[in-house]
Amino acid sequence: MVPGGRWNVRGLRKRLFAWLYYTCLSDKGQPNLKGTLTGEIRAPLLARADGSVLEIGAGDGANLPLYPAKTQITLLDPNVYLLRHAVPLAAGLRRALPTCVVGVAEYLPCPDASFDTVVAVHVLCSVQDQTAALAEVRRVLRPGGLFLFLEHVAAPAGTVNRCAQQVLNPGWRMIGDGCQLTRDTGASIQAAGFATVEQHAFEVGFPPFLSPHICGFARR
Ligand SMILES: C[S@@+](CC[C@H](N)C(=O)[O-])C[C@H]1O[C@@H](n2cnc3c(N)ncnc32)[C@H](O)[C@@H]1O
Repeated sequence: MVPGGRWNVRGLRKRLFAWLYYTCLSDKGQPNLKGTLTGEIRAPLLARADGSVLEIGAGDGANLPLYPAKTQITLLDPNVYLLRHAVPLAAGLRRALPTCVVGVAEYLPCPDASFDTVVAVHVLCSVQDQTAALAEVRRVLRPGGLFLFLEHVAAPAGTVNRCAQQVLNPGWRMIGDGCQLTRDTGASIQAAGFATVEQHAFEVGFPPFLSPHICGFARR
């Protein structure tokens, strides 16, 4: 039985989130991401992926068209109702089919040092334990391997936007399958023990409470 696959409240919430996300928010693998949230940042970031690539929280595999053709992709996500779209998407793009794994970033079912690149796009906002997830990212990267990330994070303390994020957070978390608006993910990545970290913050415009974003890379 897949996680969340039963007809219980948790399973229904997973199905509902998957339907909402896929229908309303996903790029559905359209290579032309211009005009979509962070599209113009995402493409050059993921073009840096190399060799064996693990994407954590990959959802429906919407980032697949952005990876260099020679990369070997593994997609991991706890929501099978999203992940099931990834193989048909890859087939439609005529690229090698990804390996799909149902699981969570906090317990990666992968050997130490088994990937050249690990990718996180809009997922460290949702994992239950950021410290554990980042430790797992570091563990499965080979020495010198690259961690590419793009995340929305908490606005600076004391700003109107931070206040709004705090007020909206409980409701957003409920409809967003655990997504949180108030995490200082940049600091967590800095503290995760990577050899080097380079990141920059930027605004995404609308909706304001999803600003700022951070984007960057870390080397193991
Ligand atoms: C906002 S979606 C992003 C999907 C994809 N990365 C993208 O860029 O389109 C967040 C994803 O994180 C997944 N997720 C939630 N908790 C997770 C966890 N603990 N480990 C891995 N993925 C998780 C959700 O199932 C969802 O697919």
